Amino acid sequence: MKEKMTEIPENLKKSVLVKIKPTPYEQKCLFNVADYLIKRTSSIASELNLTGVSARLVGSAARGTWLSGTHDLDIFILFPEDTDPEYLEYYGLKIARKVAEESDIWQEQYAEHPYISLKFKGYDVDLVPCFRVSYASNIKSAVDRTPFHNEFIKENIKGLEDDVLLLKQFMHGIGVYGSELKTRGFSGYFAELLVIYFGSFDNLLISACDWYPGMTIDMMGHGTLNHEEPFIMIDPTDPRRNVAAALSVDKLAEFVDKSRSFLEHHSKDFFFPKPVIPLTDSEIKNRLKLRNSSMVAIVFETPDVVEDVFYPQLYKMENSVPSLLENHDFSVSNTGSWAGNYSVILMELLNSTLPNVKKHQGPPVWIHKHADKFKAKYKDSGNIFSMYIENGSYIVEKVRKYTDVKTLIESKLLTCSLGKHTLKSIKKGFEVLEDDEICRVKDPEFRIYLRKWL
Ligand code: UTP
Ligand code: MN
Repeated sequence: MKEKMTEIPENLKKSVLVKIKPTPYEQKCLFNVADYLIKRTSSIASELNLTGVSARLVGSAARGTWLSGTHDLDIFILFPEDTDPEYLEYYGLKIARKVAEESDIWQEQYAEHPYISLKFKGYDVDLVPCFRVSYASNIKSAVDRTPFHNEFIKENIKGLEDDVLLLKQFMHGIGVYGSELKTRGFSGYFAELLVIYFGSFDNLLISACDWYPGMTIDMMGHGTLNHEEPFIMIDPTDPRRNVAAALSVDKLAEFVDKSRSFLEHHSKDFFFPKPVIPLTDSEIKNRLKLRNSSMVAIVFETPDVVEDVFYPQLYKMENSVPSLLENHDFSVSNTGSWAGNYSVILMELLNSTLPNVKKHQGPPVWIHKHADKFKAKYKDSGNIFSMYIENGSYIVEKVRKYTDVKTLIESKLLTCSLGKHTLKSIKKGFEVLEDDEICRVKDPEFRIYLRKWL
Protein backbone atom coordinates (compact mmCIF):
# COMPACT_ATOMS: atom_id res chain seq x y z
CA MET A 1 0.00 0.00 0.00
CA LYS A 2 1.24 3.45 -0.89
CA GLU A 3 1.48 5.54 2.25
CA LYS A 4 -0.14 8.94 2.06
CA MET A 5 2.37 11.50 0.89
CA THR A 6 2.61 14.74 2.76
CA GLU A 7 4.06 18.00 1.54
CA ILE A 8 7.80 18.43 1.89
CA PRO A 9 8.19 20.58 5.03
CA GLU A 10 9.42 24.10 4.28
CA ASN A 11 11.79 24.00 7.23
CA LEU A 12 13.49 20.90 5.87
CA LYS A 13 14.09 22.60 2.52
CA LYS A 14 15.32 25.72 4.33
CA SER A 15 17.77 23.77 6.44
CA VAL A 16 19.16 22.11 3.30
CA LEU A 17 19.37 25.42 1.43
CA VAL A 18 21.33 27.03 4.25
CA LYS A 19 24.10 24.57 3.50
CA ILE A 20 24.02 24.58 -0.30
CA LYS A 21 23.09 28.11 -1.36
CA PRO A 22 26.12 30.31 -2.01
CA THR A 23 26.25 33.27 0.35
CA PRO A 24 26.33 36.81 -1.11
CA TYR A 25 30.03 36.87 -0.22
CA GLU A 26 30.70 33.61 -2.05
CA GLN A 27 28.77 34.94 -5.04
CA LYS A 28 30.75 38.18 -5.05
CA CYS A 29 34.07 36.34 -4.97
CA LEU A 30 33.01 34.07 -7.82
CA PHE A 31 31.77 36.92 -10.02
CA ASN A 32 34.95 38.93 -9.37
CA VAL A 33 37.08 36.05 -10.60
CA ALA A 34 34.77 35.40 -13.57
CA ASP A 35 34.77 39.10 -14.54
CA TYR A 36 38.53 39.25 -14.33
CA LEU A 37 38.99 36.18 -16.53
CA ILE A 38 36.47 37.39 -19.10
CA LYS A 39 38.11 40.83 -19.36
CA ARG A 40 41.52 39.18 -19.62
CA THR A 41 40.28 36.86 -22.38
CA SER A 42 38.74 39.72 -24.33
CA SER A 43 41.83 41.89 -24.07
CA ILE A 44 44.08 39.05 -25.24
CA ALA A 45 41.74 38.61 -28.21
CA SER A 46 42.04 42.28 -29.12
CA GLU A 47 45.82 42.25 -28.64
CA LEU A 48 45.83 39.49 -31.25
CA ASN A 49 43.65 41.69 -33.51
CA LEU A 50 40.88 39.11 -33.58
CA THR A 51 37.57 40.70 -34.49
CA GLY A 52 34.19 39.41 -33.40
CA VAL A 53 35.65 37.23 -30.63
CA SER A 54 34.03 37.51 -27.21
CA ALA A 55 34.13 35.68 -23.89
CA ARG A 56 31.11 34.70 -21.85
CA LEU A 57 30.40 33.02 -18.54
CA VAL A 58 28.06 30.04 -19.03
CA GLY A 59 27.06 26.99 -16.95
CA SER A 60 25.62 27.00 -13.46
CA ALA A 61 27.73 29.97 -12.31
CA ALA A 62 26.04 32.17 -14.90
CA ARG A 63 22.57 31.00 -13.88
CA GLY A 64 22.76 31.20 -10.10
CA THR A 65 22.35 27.44 -9.86
CA TRP A 66 25.73 26.31 -8.55
CA LEU A 67 26.05 24.52 -5.26
CA SER A 68 27.95 26.31 -2.54
CA GLY A 69 31.52 25.09 -2.27
CA THR A 70 31.75 23.91 -5.86
CA HIS A 71 33.98 26.36 -7.63
CA ASP A 72 33.54 25.58 -11.27
CA LEU A 73 33.63 28.33 -13.91
CA ASP A 74 32.69 27.59 -17.51
CA ILE A 75 33.99 30.38 -19.74
CA PHE A 76 33.33 30.14 -23.44
CA ILE A 77 35.31 32.00 -26.10
CA LEU A 78 32.92 32.66 -28.96
CA PHE A 79 34.21 32.99 -32.54
CA PRO A 80 32.11 34.15 -35.52
CA GLU A 81 30.12 31.38 -37.19
CA ASP A 82 32.09 31.49 -40.46
CA THR A 83 35.47 31.06 -38.72
CA ASP A 84 37.58 28.31 -40.20
CA PRO A 85 37.66 25.41 -37.67
CA GLU A 86 41.46 25.20 -37.76
CA TYR A 87 41.70 28.93 -37.16
CA LEU A 88 39.30 28.61 -34.20
CA GLU A 89 41.32 25.79 -32.74
CA TYR A 90 44.61 27.62 -33.19
CA TYR A 91 43.52 31.02 -31.86
CA GLY A 92 41.13 29.55 -29.27
CA LEU A 93 43.98 27.65 -27.68
CA LYS A 94 46.38 30.54 -28.11
CA ILE A 95 44.07 32.84 -26.14
CA ALA A 96 43.35 30.19 -23.52
CA ARG A 97 47.04 29.40 -23.03
CA LYS A 98 47.81 33.05 -22.53
CA VAL A 99 45.07 33.34 -19.88
CA ALA A 100 46.44 30.16 -18.32
CA GLU A 101 49.84 31.77 -17.83
CA GLU A 102 48.42 33.42 -14.71
CA SER A 103 46.97 30.19 -13.33
CA ASP A 104 48.36 27.79 -10.75
CA ILE A 105 48.14 24.76 -13.01
CA TRP A 106 46.55 24.12 -16.36
CA GLN A 107 46.00 21.32 -18.78
CA GLU A 108 44.87 20.94 -22.35
CA GLN A 109 41.82 18.73 -22.64
CA TYR A 110 40.36 17.13 -25.71
CA ALA A 111 36.64 16.87 -26.06
CA GLU A 112 35.30 17.12 -29.61
CA HIS A 113 37.77 19.97 -29.96
CA PRO A 114 40.45 21.06 -27.54
CA TYR A 115 39.94 23.36 -24.58
CA ILE A 116 41.93 24.29 -21.52
CA SER A 117 41.10 23.63 -17.90
CA LEU A 118 42.98 25.56 -15.28
CA LYS A 119 43.06 26.29 -11.60
CA PHE A 120 42.85 30.00 -10.80
CA LYS A 121 42.50 31.38 -7.25
CA GLY A 122 40.94 28.10 -6.14
CA TYR A 123 38.46 27.93 -9.02
CA ASP A 124 38.31 25.12 -11.57
CA VAL A 125 38.01 27.02 -14.82
CA ASP A 126 37.24 25.58 -18.24
CA LEU A 127 38.13 27.86 -21.15
CA VAL A 128 36.25 26.51 -24.16
CA PRO A 129 36.49 27.96 -27.69
CA CYS A 130 33.26 27.59 -29.69
CA PHE A 131 31.36 28.95 -32.70
CA ARG A 132 28.73 31.62 -32.20
CA VAL A 133 26.14 29.99 -34.50
CA SER A 134 22.78 31.62 -35.27
CA TYR A 135 20.63 28.62 -34.23
CA ALA A 136 21.48 25.74 -31.92
CA SER A 137 20.40 23.39 -34.72
CA ASN A 138 23.29 24.80 -36.81
CA ILE A 139 25.99 23.81 -34.36
CA LYS A 140 29.35 22.73 -35.70
CA SER A 141 30.44 21.09 -32.47
CA ALA A 142 28.55 19.90 -29.36
CA VAL A 143 29.92 22.73 -27.21
CA ASP A 144 28.26 25.33 -29.47
CA ARG A 145 24.93 24.44 -27.83
CA THR A 146 26.02 25.64 -24.42
CA PRO A 147 25.50 29.39 -25.02
CA PHE A 148 21.94 28.58 -26.17
CA HIS A 149 21.31 26.50 -23.05
CA ASN A 150 22.54 29.41 -21.05
CA GLU A 151 20.14 31.91 -22.62
CA PHE A 152 17.19 29.54 -22.30
CA ILE A 153 17.82 28.78 -18.65
CA LYS A 154 18.51 32.41 -17.75
CA GLU A 155 15.21 33.47 -19.33
CA ASN A 156 13.16 30.77 -17.61
CA ILE A 157 14.78 29.98 -14.28
CA LYS A 158 14.00 33.20 -12.38
CA GLY A 159 12.55 32.40 -8.98
CA LEU A 160 13.30 28.68 -9.33
CA GLU A 161 17.01 28.76 -8.46
CA ASP A 162 16.47 27.33 -4.98
CA ASP A 163 14.45 24.47 -6.43
CA VAL A 164 17.33 23.67 -8.80
CA LEU A 165 19.79 23.70 -5.90
CA LEU A 166 17.58 21.33 -3.90
CA LEU A 167 17.26 19.02 -6.88
CA LYS A 168 21.00 18.99 -7.64
CA GLN A 169 21.82 18.26 -3.99
CA PHE A 170 19.14 15.54 -3.81
CA MET A 171 20.59 13.95 -6.94
CA HIS A 172 24.10 14.25 -5.50
CA GLY A 173 23.00 12.65 -2.25
CA ILE A 174 21.42 9.64 -3.93
CA GLY A 175 24.31 9.30 -6.43
CA VAL A 176 22.59 10.12 -9.72
CA TYR A 177 24.01 13.59 -10.47
CA GLY A 178 26.45 13.96 -13.34
CA SER A 179 26.26 13.07 -17.01
CA GLU A 180 29.85 11.81 -17.26
CA LEU A 181 30.21 8.27 -18.55
CA LYS A 182 31.30 7.13 -15.08
CA THR A 183 27.97 8.10 -13.54
CA ARG A 184 25.54 8.10 -16.48
CA GLY A 185 23.17 10.24 -14.46
CA PHE A 186 21.51 13.67 -14.75
CA SER A 187 23.42 16.72 -16.06
CA GLY A 188 22.99 20.16 -14.51
CA TYR A 189 21.12 21.42 -17.59
CA PHE A 190 18.76 18.43 -17.44
CA ALA A 191 18.04 19.16 -13.76
CA GLU A 192 17.31 22.81 -14.57
CA LEU A 193 14.92 21.89 -17.38
CA LEU A 194 13.07 19.44 -15.12
CA VAL A 195 12.50 22.17 -12.54
CA ILE A 196 11.33 24.62 -15.22
CA TYR A 197 8.97 22.05 -16.73
CA PHE A 198 7.43 20.84 -13.47
CA GLY A 199 7.47 24.26 -11.82
CA SER A 200 9.05 23.21 -8.52
CA PHE A 201 11.24 20.67 -6.77
CA ASP A 202 8.18 19.23 -5.02
CA ASN A 203 6.11 18.80 -8.18
CA LEU A 204 9.02 17.21 -9.98
CA LEU A 205 9.55 14.60 -7.26
CA ILE A 206 5.83 13.81 -7.12
CA SER A 207 5.82 13.29 -10.89
CA ALA A 208 9.00 11.18 -10.79
CA CYS A 209 7.23 8.60 -8.61
CA ASP A 210 5.36 7.48 -11.73
CA TRP A 211 8.06 7.71 -14.39
CA TYR A 212 8.87 4.75 -16.62
CA PRO A 213 11.38 4.01 -19.39
CA GLY A 214 10.35 5.81 -22.56
CA MET A 215 9.13 8.87 -20.61
CA THR A 216 9.15 11.81 -22.96
CA ILE A 217 9.14 15.54 -22.30
CA ASP A 218 8.99 17.87 -25.27
CA MET A 219 8.44 21.22 -23.62
CA MET A 220 8.61 23.30 -26.81
CA GLY A 221 6.51 20.88 -28.86
CA HIS A 222 9.32 20.20 -31.32
CA GLY A 223 7.82 16.80 -32.09
CA THR A 224 11.14 15.10 -32.80
CA LEU A 225 10.69 12.04 -30.65
CA ASN A 226 12.53 9.25 -32.45
CA HIS A 227 15.01 8.56 -29.67
CA GLU A 228 15.73 5.19 -28.08
CA GLU A 229 17.10 6.19 -24.69
CA PRO A 230 15.32 5.40 -21.36
CA PHE A 231 14.29 9.04 -20.93
CA ILE A 232 13.67 11.60 -23.63
CA MET A 233 13.87 15.32 -22.89
CA ILE A 234 13.93 17.16 -26.20
CA ASP A 235 16.35 20.06 -25.94
CA PRO A 236 14.24 23.24 -26.11
CA THR A 237 17.11 24.88 -28.02
CA ASP A 238 17.83 22.02 -30.44
CA PRO A 239 14.98 19.75 -31.62
CA ARG A 240 17.35 16.95 -32.58
CA ARG A 241 19.04 16.63 -29.23
CA ASN A 242 17.95 14.45 -26.30
CA VAL A 243 19.20 16.22 -23.17
CA ALA A 244 18.81 12.94 -21.26
CA ALA A 245 20.92 10.92 -23.71
CA ALA A 246 23.50 9.99 -21.08
CA LEU A 247 21.01 8.77 -18.44
CA SER A 248 21.14 5.02 -17.83
CA VAL A 249 18.01 3.07 -17.03
CA ASP A 250 19.36 2.21 -13.57
CA LYS A 251 20.06 5.83 -12.62
CA LEU A 252 16.56 6.69 -13.82
CA ALA A 253 15.13 3.87 -11.69
CA GLU A 254 17.22 4.95 -8.72
CA PHE A 255 15.79 8.47 -8.98
CA VAL A 256 12.21 7.15 -9.16
CA ASP A 257 12.77 4.83 -6.18
CA LYS A 258 14.40 7.51 -4.01
CA SER A 259 11.75 10.10 -4.92
CA ARG A 260 9.09 7.72 -3.62
CA SER A 261 11.03 6.95 -0.43
CA PHE A 262 11.73 10.61 0.24
CA LEU A 263 8.11 11.66 -0.23
CA GLU A 264 7.01 8.88 2.12
CA HIS A 265 9.63 9.67 4.69
CA HIS A 266 11.18 13.14 4.54
CA SER A 267 14.74 13.16 5.76
CA LYS A 268 17.81 15.30 5.24
CA ASP A 269 19.79 12.08 4.81
CA PHE A 270 18.69 11.95 1.18
CA PHE A 271 20.54 15.22 0.57
CA PHE A 272 23.44 14.51 2.91
CA PRO A 273 23.89 10.77 3.25
CA LYS A 274 25.72 9.52 6.31
CA PRO A 275 29.33 8.76 5.47
CA VAL A 276 29.93 5.10 4.62
CA ILE A 277 32.72 3.48 6.60
CA PRO A 278 35.17 1.18 4.78
CA LEU A 279 34.69 -2.53 5.52
CA THR A 280 37.39 -4.04 7.72
CA ASP A 281 39.10 -7.34 6.95
CA SER A 282 37.03 -9.21 9.51
CA GLU A 283 33.78 -7.68 8.23
CA ILE A 284 34.65 -8.79 4.71
CA LYS A 285 35.43 -12.31 5.93
CA ASN A 286 32.23 -12.53 7.98
CA ARG A 287 30.04 -11.34 5.16
CA LEU A 288 31.60 -13.74 2.69
CA LYS A 289 31.09 -16.58 5.13
CA LEU A 290 27.43 -15.69 5.63
CA ARG A 291 26.80 -15.46 1.89
CA ASN A 292 28.60 -18.77 1.36
CA SER A 293 29.06 -18.01 -2.34
CA SER A 294 32.31 -17.73 -4.28
CA MET A 295 33.79 -14.32 -4.82
CA VAL A 296 36.29 -13.50 -7.55
CA ALA A 297 38.08 -10.22 -8.16
CA ILE A 298 40.26 -9.30 -11.12
CA VAL A 299 42.69 -6.53 -10.22
CA PHE A 300 44.77 -4.51 -12.69
CA GLU A 301 46.37 -1.12 -12.96
CA THR A 302 43.98 1.64 -14.06
CA PRO A 303 45.16 2.98 -17.43
CA ASP A 304 46.21 6.62 -17.55
CA VAL A 305 43.36 8.01 -19.68
CA VAL A 306 40.50 10.40 -18.92
CA GLU A 307 37.51 8.95 -17.08
CA ASP A 308 35.13 9.40 -20.00
CA VAL A 309 37.37 7.10 -22.03
CA PHE A 310 38.12 4.58 -19.30
CA TYR A 311 34.76 3.95 -17.62
CA PRO A 312 32.96 2.66 -20.73
CA GLN A 313 35.85 0.17 -21.08
CA LEU A 314 35.54 -0.88 -17.44
CA TYR A 315 31.77 -1.38 -17.76
CA LYS A 316 32.30 -3.33 -20.99
CA MET A 317 34.70 -5.64 -19.13
CA GLU A 318 32.16 -6.04 -16.33
CA ASN A 319 29.88 -7.54 -18.99
CA SER A 320 32.32 -9.52 -21.09
CA VAL A 321 34.16 -11.43 -18.34
CA PRO A 322 30.97 -12.92 -16.84
CA SER A 323 30.01 -14.05 -20.37
CA LEU A 324 33.30 -15.94 -20.61
CA LEU A 325 32.54 -17.61 -17.29
CA GLU A 326 28.96 -18.45 -18.25
CA ASN A 327 30.19 -19.95 -21.54
CA HIS A 328 32.30 -22.30 -19.45
CA ASP A 329 29.34 -23.31 -17.24
CA PHE A 330 30.09 -21.10 -14.24
CA SER A 331 27.08 -19.35 -12.80
CA VAL A 332 27.62 -15.64 -12.15
CA SER A 333 24.98 -14.19 -9.86
CA ASN A 334 26.28 -10.64 -9.40
CA THR A 335 28.89 -8.34 -10.91
CA GLY A 336 30.52 -5.07 -9.89
CA SER A 337 33.38 -2.78 -10.80
CA TRP A 338 35.43 -0.13 -9.08
CA ALA A 339 38.39 2.00 -10.10
CA GLY A 340 41.01 4.02 -8.25
CA ASN A 341 44.75 3.71 -8.85
CA TYR A 342 43.95 0.16 -9.79
CA SER A 343 40.70 -1.28 -11.06
CA VAL A 344 38.68 -4.20 -9.82
CA ILE A 345 36.07 -6.35 -11.55
CA LEU A 346 34.06 -8.27 -8.99
CA MET A 347 32.00 -11.37 -9.60
CA GLU A 348 29.97 -13.48 -7.24
CA LEU A 349 29.51 -17.09 -8.35
CA LEU A 350 27.35 -19.94 -7.20
CA ASN A 351 30.55 -21.97 -7.19
CA SER A 352 34.17 -21.43 -8.15
CA THR A 353 34.78 -25.07 -9.12
CA LEU A 354 32.96 -27.44 -11.44
CA PRO A 355 33.00 -31.27 -11.74
CA ASN A 356 35.67 -32.93 -13.90
CA VAL A 357 32.91 -34.40 -16.01
CA LYS A 358 31.14 -32.31 -18.63
CA LYS A 359 28.11 -33.57 -20.49
CA HIS A 360 28.32 -32.85 -24.19
CA GLN A 361 25.56 -33.49 -26.70
CA GLY A 362 26.33 -34.95 -30.12
CA PRO A 363 24.21 -35.43 -33.25
CA PRO A 364 21.00 -37.52 -33.49
CA VAL A 365 21.74 -41.14 -34.31
CA TRP A 366 19.69 -40.90 -37.58
CA ILE A 367 21.97 -38.32 -39.14
CA HIS A 368 24.23 -41.07 -40.32
CA LYS A 369 27.18 -39.07 -41.60
CA HIS A 370 27.42 -36.79 -38.56
CA ALA A 371 26.91 -39.74 -36.24
CA ASP A 372 29.88 -41.59 -37.75
CA LYS A 373 32.11 -38.56 -37.51
CA PHE A 374 31.13 -37.95 -33.89
CA LYS A 375 31.75 -41.54 -32.86
CA ALA A 376 35.10 -41.59 -34.66
CA LYS A 377 36.18 -38.46 -32.88
CA TYR A 378 35.48 -39.76 -29.38
CA LYS A 379 36.02 -43.52 -29.86
CA ASP A 380 39.12 -44.71 -28.06
CA SER A 381 39.73 -41.17 -26.85
CA GLY A 382 41.02 -41.35 -23.30
CA ASN A 383 39.33 -38.02 -22.75
CA ILE A 384 35.80 -39.23 -22.07
CA PHE A 385 34.12 -40.94 -19.16
CA SER A 386 31.36 -42.51 -21.24
CA MET A 387 29.26 -42.32 -24.37
CA TYR A 388 25.56 -43.15 -24.51
CA ILE A 389 22.32 -42.32 -26.29
CA GLU A 390 19.68 -40.06 -24.82
CA ASN A 391 16.48 -39.00 -26.61
CA GLY A 392 17.90 -40.28 -29.87
CA SER A 393 21.17 -38.30 -29.70
CA TYR A 394 24.68 -39.29 -28.71
CA ILE A 395 26.00 -37.92 -25.45
CA VAL A 396 29.61 -37.97 -24.34
CA GLU A 397 30.76 -37.29 -20.84
CA LYS A 398 34.02 -35.45 -21.47
CA VAL A 399 36.82 -34.34 -19.21
CA ARG A 400 36.18 -30.65 -18.49
CA LYS A 401 38.97 -28.31 -19.54
CA TYR A 402 38.53 -25.59 -16.90
CA THR A 403 37.30 -26.82 -13.54
CA ASP A 404 38.26 -23.80 -11.49
CA VAL A 405 37.44 -20.22 -12.26
CA LYS A 406 40.87 -18.80 -11.51
CA THR A 407 42.58 -21.00 -14.11
CA LEU A 408 39.89 -20.14 -16.63
CA ILE A 409 40.37 -16.39 -16.10
CA GLU A 410 44.14 -16.64 -16.15
CA SER A 411 44.09 -18.56 -19.43
CA LYS A 412 41.27 -16.81 -21.24
CA LEU A 413 40.92 -13.24 -19.96
CA LEU A 414 42.62 -11.76 -23.03
CA THR A 415 39.99 -13.35 -25.30
CA CYS A 416 37.25 -11.27 -23.65
CA SER A 417 36.10 -8.10 -25.30
CA LEU A 418 38.08 -5.41 -23.48
CA GLY A 419 38.56 -1.78 -24.40
CA LYS A 420 41.80 -0.64 -25.98
CA HIS A 421 43.38 0.86 -22.85
CA THR A 422 42.09 -1.83 -20.53
CA LEU A 423 43.52 -4.53 -22.77
CA LYS A 424 46.90 -2.80 -22.79
CA SER A 425 46.95 -2.59 -19.01
CA ILE A 426 45.85 -6.20 -18.55
CA LYS A 427 48.55 -7.38 -20.93
CA LYS A 428 51.05 -5.83 -18.52
CA GLY A 429 49.61 -7.92 -15.70
CA PHE A 430 46.60 -8.71 -13.55
CA GLU A 431 45.76 -10.68 -10.47
CA VAL A 432 42.83 -12.95 -9.69
CA LEU A 433 41.76 -12.91 -6.04
CA GLU A 434 39.32 -15.39 -4.56
CA ASP A 435 37.13 -15.05 -1.45
CA ASP A 436 39.12 -13.80 1.57
CA GLU A 437 42.02 -12.81 -0.69
CA ILE A 438 39.88 -9.77 -1.59
CA CYS A 439 41.15 -8.37 1.71
CA ARG A 440 44.44 -7.72 -0.05
CA VAL A 441 42.80 -4.75 -1.77
CA LYS A 442 43.29 -2.09 0.91
CA ASP A 443 42.06 1.13 -0.74
CA PRO A 444 39.43 2.61 1.65
CA GLU A 445 37.32 3.78 -1.31
CA PHE A 446 37.17 0.20 -2.53
CA ARG A 447 36.19 -0.94 0.96
CA ILE A 448 33.37 1.66 0.93
CA TYR A 449 32.22 0.32 -2.44
CA LEU A 450 32.34 -3.23 -1.01
CA ARG A 451 30.05 -2.26 1.87
CA LYS A 452 27.36 -1.37 -0.64
CA TRP A 453 28.06 -4.44 -2.69
CA LEU A 454 28.39 -7.25 -0.13
P1 UTP B 1 28.80 21.55 -16.53
O1 UTP B 1 29.05 20.08 -16.56
O2 UTP B 1 29.80 22.43 -15.87
O3 UTP B 1 27.33 21.74 -15.90
O4 UTP B 1 28.61 21.96 -18.04
P2 UTP B 1 26.63 22.96 -15.17
O5 UTP B 1 25.30 23.19 -15.82
O6 UTP B 1 27.55 24.13 -15.08
O7 UTP B 1 26.32 22.34 -13.73
P3 UTP B 1 27.28 22.16 -12.46
O8 UTP B 1 28.66 22.68 -12.83
O9 UTP B 1 27.26 20.69 -12.16
O10 UTP B 1 26.62 22.94 -11.38
C1 UTP B 1 28.52 23.31 -18.51
C2 UTP B 1 27.50 23.43 -19.61
O11 UTP B 1 27.78 22.50 -20.67
C3 UTP B 1 26.57 21.94 -21.20
C4 UTP B 1 25.44 22.63 -20.47
O12 UTP B 1 24.98 23.72 -21.24
C5 UTP B 1 26.08 23.06 -19.18
O13 UTP B 1 25.41 24.12 -18.57
N1 UTP B 1 26.50 20.47 -20.98
C6 UTP B 1 27.35 19.85 -20.13
C7 UTP B 1 25.54 19.72 -21.62
O14 UTP B 1 24.75 20.24 -22.41
N2 UTP B 1 25.47 18.37 -21.39
C8 UTP B 1 26.31 17.76 -20.56
O15 UTP B 1 26.21 16.51 -20.39
C9 UTP B 1 27.28 18.51 -19.89
MN1 MN C 1 29.62 24.01 -14.44
